Amino acid sequence: MRSVKASRSQKRVEDAGCIVVTGASSGIGEATLRLFAAKGFKAIGIARRGQKLITITDQLKRSGLAAYWYECDLSDKTATTRVSEQILVEHGCPQAVVFNAGVSANKNFSENNSSDRLDEMTLNYLSPTWMLDVFLPQAQKRRSGHFLAIGSLAACTSFPGNATYAASKAALAALWQSIEHEYAHAGISFSTVLPGLIETEMTEKLSAWIPKRSAQSVADLIYKTFEKPGMAKTNGVENQAILTMTRLFPETTQNIITSLQSFIVPKRKKS
Ligand SMILES: NC(=O)c1ccc[n+]([C@@H]2O[C@H](COP(=O)([O-])OP(=O)(O)OC[C@H]3O[C@@H](n4cnc5c(N)ncnc54)[C@H](OP(=O)(O)O)[C@@H]3O)[C@@H](O)[C@H]2O)c1
Repeated sequence: MRSVKASRSQKRVEDAGCIVVTGASSGIGEATLRLFAAKGFKAIGIARRGQKLITITDQLKRSGLAAYWYECDLSDKTATTRVSEQILVEHGCPQAVVFNAGVSANKNFSENNSSDRLDEMTLNYLSPTWMLDVFLPQAQKRRSGHFLAIGSLAACTSFPGNATYAASKAALAALWQSIEHEYAHAGISFSTVLPGLIETEMTEKLSAWIPKRSAQSVADLIYKTFEKPGMAKTNGVENQAILTMTRLFPETTQNIITSLQSFIVPKRKKS
């Protein structure tokens, strides 16, 4: 009975293809990797903390799921290209890539030095373009593929206190929207998910009046978006309301946020 179950799940994995998730060692990426593996995909996680990836993928494998890991600093162009090429060789062209790895300085502009800005722009915006350089031509040959960018609500609605992070996520969202036109007839999809405030390592030092949603809620939205591609999807009614307000009444929304900023802007907790 055990071997029948194993071969069925193996068949499911072969049918489903492989999904790459960057930044899979914690938070939204970890929840997404686990979800895709549970749905029967061959789930491939990338991050710098190899030990965390080993723990996560070993646990998934013990449950009979297909999970693989690659340790890589995705802010390094050579290493990013190399790991993407290695995945192509070892697993073939992924059916989808979730560009989730990200960094946020969580600082006011005046405190945010040029190294913080470079880190945000490199990992949040440039690194996905280096991976696309490797995966896009293969997806184009196959005439299928789905590239999902994890942006942020901050890419559309301006919040004070994290301006250069917002700029890096806006760059990513704009890239995705524009590139989508180029590949509209190539059978390739581009989607963006723009989470609001989420309870993860990234925000553990922030206290906020707005409730933090779970990483799982974003993973669920990423999976739904994988099934039904689209731009600027967000999780939670409050974030949907903010996004709609920004689209319909950009100036009013800007003014409301400016006047309420002392309440709504997440504050750094005193350590
Ligand atoms: N939390 C929020 O409120 C929120 C809101 C909107 C959008 N987002 C976005 O959601 C994504 C995931 O963030 P999270 O909230 O889940 O935070 P997180 O728990 O801190 O996860 C960040 C992930 O990125 C990886 N990473 C960081 N630097 C990397 C590098 N140089 N190379 C490879 N991987 C790297 C981290 O792994 P290693 O440290 O092991 O490398 C980790 O797996 C980010 O793009 C973030 O901007 C988060």
